[in-house]
Amino acid sequence: MNRCPVASRRGLLAAAGGLVAAAAAGPARAAAGGAADAGGAAATEPFWGRYQGGILTPQQRHACTAAFDLTTRKREAVEGLLRTWTAAAARMANGETAAPLGTDLSAPAPDSGVALGLSPARLTVTVGFGAGLFIKNGVDRYGLAAQRPAALVDLPRFTGDQLIAERSGGDLFVQACADDAQVAFHAVRQLDQLAYGVADKRWLQTGFLPDAPAGETPRNLMGFKDGTDNPAVGDAGVMEQVVWVGSEGPAWMEHGTYAVFRRIRISLEHWDRMEVDFQEETIGRRKYSGAPLTGTKEFDPLDLNRADAEGEPVIAENAHVRLAAPASNGGATILRRGYSYNDGVTFIAERWPPWRQGMLYDAGLLFVAFQRDPRSGFIRIFEPMAKLDALNQFTTHTASGLFACPGGAAPGEFIGQRLFMTG
Ligand code: HEM
Repeated sequence: MNRCPVASRRGLLAAAGGLVAAAAAGPARAAAGGAADAGGAAATEPFWGRYQGGILTPQQRHACTAAFDLTTRKREAVEGLLRTWTAAAARMANGETAAPLGTDLSAPAPDSGVALGLSPARLTVTVGFGAGLFIKNGVDRYGLAAQRPAALVDLPRFTGDQLIAERSGGDLFVQACADDAQVAFHAVRQLDQLAYGVADKRWLQTGFLPDAPAGETPRNLMGFKDGTDNPAVGDAGVMEQVVWVGSEGPAWMEHGTYAVFRRIRISLEHWDRMEVDFQEETIGRRKYSGAPLTGTKEFDPLDLNRADAEGEPVIAENAHVRLAAPASNGGATILRRGYSYNDGVTFIAERWPPWRQGMLYDAGLLFVAFQRDPRSGFIRIFEPMAKLDALNQFTTHTASGLFACPGGAAPGEFIGQRLFMTG
């Protein structure tokens, strides 16, 4: 029988017979068709459109990010993979399985089934291209070298970088974000499955945010509100300036953006021993309210010129927010969309203060930032910060990546199509 009637996770359960009642009773099932979830918010994010999702999308609670190395020598295979990924991502964002489930139980399942019965959970899948798609070890594997954007640079080595090569880089990047960790992992796992024979997993990293009350800035693992001073995603003009590639080229990148990924380990044991006022000086903001040290409310503007009675700047010269602020970087602005991560504990022997060894948290920040050009965005901001930021006493960048994320696709197109048409 070639009948493939099952289009959705809900549909599968219904078709499976006997499980219909379970499907109806599932707590989040009302969300499957893009209707409202228990909290009244839409449970699907649009997949098709001018821009890819997962960039301006209000942050979901979980992220599963991964990079892949292309193993094929054939350009058509890469194109085919992106076509397949696009179709699968669109289906999964709609709460469906990655591919239609057949009824032939003697064949391998086209989907692992781990998200059956779950809400789409506002899943977004964002795809990016690493430099290796264009040129790798000097070889133009797919005839795309001439299409490599000038902005897709090799990131410089920053002061303090302790990057693990196996957790960094990659030819293709996938960011799956969802309000359910299993839905996000499912998406990456299915894309990985579909890449069999064409691309291999290089690294995978999950992250999370707290279930902060609506409208409140989530706190990171340092206990500070993180994301306060982001540019306004609701302002299309600002987003065009800060995030979206315009007519500067290459043409296939129009409406796309560049994603910087940094896995930043935080020495939480060390941080937790610091006095709160020292922590606040380090960041330049109040811990509990999130207000700048020169204000009283979270969204008060930073006053970088204010001095105290001794003439010392209220926001210290090496405070994180001073060094990161556009005013300190010739206006450079990025859109941060990071997640905390917690990968348990690992044994570490530190040979510098505070000279400790033992099981230490491998936890911190999955820093993800989108920008129109990383040379005038992340690199411009982070180069001085890497040398001077007081926060560096507590942080170590252990992985890194820069990916060109093309614009979105209309139904019938695939993500990155314009690159393959012009390249
Ligand atoms: C573990 C590492 C980091 C932690 C814990 C952290 C935390 C924070 C916190 C608490 C704030 C203040 C609230 C806010 O405006 O969001 C902030 C602001 C900011 N951070 Fe970070 N950050 C980290 C790494 C970075 C890195 C690597 C960059 C690189 C460019 C960066 C760029 C910024 C920017 C641009 C701001 C806004 C500054 C402003 O305009 O006021 N952060 N960060």
